[in-house]
Amino acid sequence: SEKKLWGGRFKESTDRLVEKYTESVSYDKRLAPFDIAGSIAHVTMLGKQGILKEDEVSKIVSGLNEILKEIESGKFEWKEELEDVHMNIEKKLTEKVGPVGGKLHTGRSRNDQVATDVRLYVRHEIENILELLKRIRKAFFIQAKKYIDVVMPGYTHLQIAQPVLYSHHMLAYYHMFKRDEERFKDTLKRVNVMPLGSAALAGTSYPLDRKFTAELLKFDSISRNSMDAVSDRDFVAETIFNCALVMTHLSRLSEELILWSTEEFSFINLPDAFCTGSSIMPQKKNPDVSELTRGKTGRVYGDLISILTILKGLPLTYNRDLQEDKEPLFDAIDTVKLALAVNAKIVEEMIPNKERMKTQASKGFSLATDIADYLAKKGVPFREAHRIVGEIVAYCLDCEKSLEELSIEEFKRFSDAFEHDVLNLMSVEGSINSRNITGGTAKEQILKELEKIEDEENFN
Ligand code: ARG
Repeated sequence: SEKKLWGGRFKESTDRLVEKYTESVSYDKRLAPFDIAGSIAHVTMLGKQGILKEDEVSKIVSGLNEILKEIESGKFEWKEELEDVHMNIEKKLTEKVGPVGGKLHTGRSRNDQVATDVRLYVRHEIENILELLKRIRKAFFIQAKKYIDVVMPGYTHLQIAQPVLYSHHMLAYYHMFKRDEERFKDTLKRVNVMPLGSAALAGTSYPLDRKFTAELLKFDSISRNSMDAVSDRDFVAETIFNCALVMTHLSRLSEELILWSTEEFSFINLPDAFCTGSSIMPQKKNPDVSELTRGKTGRVYGDLISILTILKGLPLTYNRDLQEDKEPLFDAIDTVKLALAVNAKIVEEMIPNKERMKTQASKGFSLATDIADYLAKKGVPFREAHRIVGEIVAYCLDCEKSLEELSIEEFKRFSDAFEHDVLNLMSVEGSINSRNITGGTAKEQILKELEKIEDEENFN
């Protein structure tokens, strides 16, 4: 077994089982580029402050750069018995550049080091997620624009409620993913704070220039309490929460796409490339991607519960429990990235079944509210109008008619307020376009909204 970098005070070597139990390198090696960037910045600052000599700094920096290349080309040999990414790299550095490598850790602890690495990693990944969020928003925007004349039933309680534009439905999702963007951007403010200089927990006696290191690493600010800095993982919890909420939105979308692609709904055609077949039933085209998205939402919720539970009982400051922050974080980020990418493509390529949606849009007496509003505008109190139209619906159900099939005489049987013009109401498009209010489904509003989105976003 490798000699431990912290082995000085130990008489026995670590139990093999303990090495297996405590290691994190099998998964935290993905932090390597950030660990090396952090180390290079730290050692550069040590040089500037005269804590290390310039030739020491350049030896360490070139050693670290060599290690980075080895890692990137897959040549680097990771060792479980060296615990984590930090120890693996530092050990390799001393092998490469000799004892001077041991000066890298001056004024630093793994506690502020790992907190820094994770922040750099999260910052990087949030940038990626922001790109993917934009891609899926663009997909909804394109659908909304392309199928601007498609009408469909809007639902409450999964019962047909009122007709809406398909575009309006698409843009509802656009807004969910817009809020997700805002949340991630806001989280970035709290992520982009540098812990280096906090050392183990109490700060350090070396005259570090923390602001200089922060500038090199493009941190907006430096932490103001060393004890908080080494034990704070709020930013991890927040990031996972943001991922969980993105998954919630994707899961609701998936549920709708699964429903819409059934024979019973037949609202939508999912692209073949995003469906899978059955090993026994030759006719099947299954929406597995959407089902998996719904399922993977559960695992990201699990990641969120993990991090919150890990944190809840921790006394200040660093405790090894914190090492368990990484797997849920990585899992949430990996899952949300893939889910966003694949769902953006589905949304881009799905095709609404215009005729079927239109047929269904007027089913379920979806124009009943329009008739009640008509009566109310003629002076009938809305509650009264509501009752009258309810009776008309009951009548229609009894004689198996739709509202559109009623004559003016039949309408008049229920209220004197009905005039011939009530028959003009019997159109889905008319109903939609009458909701011409900001946020409403009228085509005019959707066109305005599309323009606004195009202005605000930089889709290209
Ligand atoms: N692998 C550890 C982690 O992720 C690094 C910090 C270890 N610090 C310590 N004092 N044991 O939390």
